Amino acid sequence: MNIAIVGCGFVADYYMTTLPNHPELRLVGAFDRDPDAARRFAAFHGVRSFDSLDDLLANPSVEMVLNLTNPSSHYAVSRACLEGGRHVYCEKPLAMTIEDAGDLVAVAAARNLQIASAPSSVLGETAEALGEAVRDGRIGDVRLVYAEMEDSMVFRESYRSWRSASGAPWPAEDEFATGCTLEHAGYYLTWLCDLFGPVVEMTAFAAKLFPDKGTEQAPSEIANDLSVTCLRFAGGTVARLTCGLAAPVDRSLHLVGTQGVLSITDGWNAQSPIYLRDHAGHWQPRWRLLGRIARRLERNRPFRHWFGQRIGVRRSAASVPETSSRMDFMRGPARMADSIRSGRSFRLGGAFSLHVTELSIVAQNADRFAMPYRPRSRFEQPASETISQNACTLPRHG
Ligand SMILES: NC(=O)c1ccc[n+]([C@@H]2O[C@H](COP(=O)([O-])OP(=O)(O)OC[C@H]3O[C@@H](n4cnc5c(N)ncnc54)[C@H](O)[C@@H]3O)[C@@H](O)[C@H]2O)c1
Repeated sequence: MNIAIVGCGFVADYYMTTLPNHPELRLVGAFDRDPDAARRFAAFHGVRSFDSLDDLLANPSVEMVLNLTNPSSHYAVSRACLEGGRHVYCEKPLAMTIEDAGDLVAVAAARNLQIASAPSSVLGETAEALGEAVRDGRIGDVRLVYAEMEDSMVFRESYRSWRSASGAPWPAEDEFATGCTLEHAGYYLTWLCDLFGPVVEMTAFAAKLFPDKGTEQAPSEIANDLSVTCLRFAGGTVARLTCGLAAPVDRSLHLVGTQGVLSITDGWNAQSPIYLRDHAGHWQPRWRLLGRIARRLERNRPFRHWFGQRIGVRRSAASVPETSSRMDFMRGPARMADSIRSGRSFRLGGAFSLHVTELSIVAQNADRFAMPYRPRSRFEQPASETISQNACTLPRHG
């Protein structure tokens, strides 16, 4: 499928690094409203640079647009692409408001186009293996999930020197204005919604712990940098998701079932190890003595230690960025292209993306919503593997 990129910044290089994993995708060209960014990207990757979005959309060979612009541009760019008859894969969030995200999904459905939003880390090898372990009943019924998206005080690091492969600076101001929850919650919300279905009720708390991030931004321009969200899924599972820029890095995930605990160390690593322990959090190795020693070492420690039975994760030769984001970013667009080609709805398509976007927006801005909050969007969990995008609903309140 022929694709084009809009937004030639930091993350666009992650997509370029992972493009060779998917030879079925052909990049026609790219556009950025910042001519320097466009030139730098085109020169580094040897790709065609379009003069404008209209110029890009006037090219009949472009079938799908990857919207990799800043979140505040997502809605306008995606809508223009849909109106131009193109399928859209957008970086997260789908839009900055629930209404705008719902509008995009409705426009796509009305035009028989597909739209989806990153992240697609749920298509990674660890997420796949975790899903299989849960469906195989390795830990019984999953009653509780603790998901961490702690990214530490990045604003105290020398982020001004951070550059992507082609030289794009890390967009600090934009990250701090958007908020770490809108930036990161989706990584685990996608996994959890994929496993346990839509969220029926949530209660979120958010706060701004560091209104001064060392940029020129006024405190009012800085988004909340901590959120703690409790979610109840349709199937009854309850989860607590924390996103923050205060506590040290922790991107672990713990699924507590009636028969055991499954843990992964890093949701940004598509091949993160998975550990299985018993319901009390203890490793039960074949050599019992080893288990007793581990238990003694672990006595009175938090349950998040890493002794446990390793669950097999499929090895993959896919290239991933050599950064903390060790994920195949192009896998989402590739799977979506595959769905379009075969006339199926994409499992992570419009309805699913809208739901994850709604949850992320409410968690990021918890102070603006009455709690508990009942999400307005729904998606149908696939009986086999597909979700009908047209099954999306976003009923208006009142
Ligand atoms: N930075 C990361 O590590 C990272 C990781 C994963 C996902 N993301 C997501 O990727 C997206 C982009 O982030 P980024 O870090 O690449 O930002 P960035 O600022 O480095 O790049 C965004 C680019 O989009 C361009 N742009 C903005 N509005 C535009 C418009 N209307 N038309 C054309 N070009 C436009 C900007 O000029 C800029 O070059 C965001 O949604 C972010 O959440 C970022």
